[in-house]
Amino acid sequence: MSQISYMKNVCVIGAGTMGNGIAHVFAQNGFSVSLMDVSQDQLNKAIATITKNLDRQVSKGLTTAETKETALANIVTHTSLATAVSNAEIVIEAATENIELKLNLFKQMDANAPAGCILATNTSSISITKIASVTSRPEQVIGMHFMNPVPVMKLAEVINGYATKKEVTDKVIDISKQLQKVPCIVNDYPGFIANRVLMPMINEAIFSLYEGVAGVEEIDTIMKLGMAHPMGPLQLADFIGLDVCLSILNVLHEGFGNPKYSPCPLLINMVAAKKLGVKTNEGFYVYSSGNKNLIASERFRK
Ligand SMILES: NC(=O)c1ccc[n+]([C@@H]2O[C@H](COP(=O)([O-])OP(=O)(O)OC[C@H]3O[C@@H](n4cnc5c(N)ncnc54)[C@H](O)[C@@H]3O)[C@@H](O)[C@H]2O)c1
Repeated sequence: MSQISYMKNVCVIGAGTMGNGIAHVFAQNGFSVSLMDVSQDQLNKAIATITKNLDRQVSKGLTTAETKETALANIVTHTSLATAVSNAEIVIEAATENIELKLNLFKQMDANAPAGCILATNTSSISITKIASVTSRPEQVIGMHFMNPVPVMKLAEVINGYATKKEVTDKVIDISKQLQKVPCIVNDYPGFIANRVLMPMINEAIFSLYEGVAGVEEIDTIMKLGMAHPMGPLQLADFIGLDVCLSILNVLHEGFGNPKYSPCPLLINMVAAKKLGVKTNEGFYVYSSGNKNLIASERFRK
């Protein structure tokens, strides 16, 4: 058995949407997880969400009640970063998407994690190379980009920074497989692959709506039925968050200096108006609890 298989101590920084999902899959696959957040309230919510999601997996026969109990027992929560990373063999940072915040976190992770520890980030759009540059171990910094919801989505987009060592990439590939994910290696350029391909499609769908080529339902139905996408691009944008879509498009636009990535004025307006999608109950569609039917926002109804 290779040395890789012995890696068992993981730290996840940030216990929000992605952090709780990442902690869930590691814990379920036998890793000891140290889950850290600045907010105790977020940590409590994360444990409640993980419990609820494991219960759903048990009721669907996807896991056993015993695995659920073991997974929950594998997670310890912390509000101190120094304590949380002290024993880690790999840290996955999944805190808020803000460059200053992440650079600061990586300095702290570098100062407090053991020397051999891999420092990974789940960032959707920030340069891995830039993040690595603030640490004393850029060769051990890598992107490990999970998709939402983490327990369901099979992909792990593994992003090599400019200095990432091959043995670090190999370890992260191995860990991804242990989590039952399918890893794909990409290089560190704006948007990596997932968002570089997805965001222009979403932006084009918004431009089509903005220019009056078709309505919200028509655009989404065409892409669902015509391309076998499980969700139309406008619904997906609402799910991701329109502010997140805008910020990733800005990263692509600035990073490549190519006007083809410039965000649609309608998207910019909707973000300014705080119509951010599911999280604000309105984007291209309106959302209310208990109602699973998709209803276009009044603004886009005919
Ligand atoms: N939501 C998605 O669909 C998605 C998909 C892939 C990748 N990502 C990436 O994952 C990361 C997290 O996104 P999210 O959607 O889970 O965000 P989120 O807002 O749900 O959670 C972020 C968490 O980070 C915590 N946090 C903030 N500052 C911190 C600090 N200094 N130390 C520790 N924790 C801190 C917050 O309290 C919060 O719990 C981002 O980099 C994002 O780009 C998100």
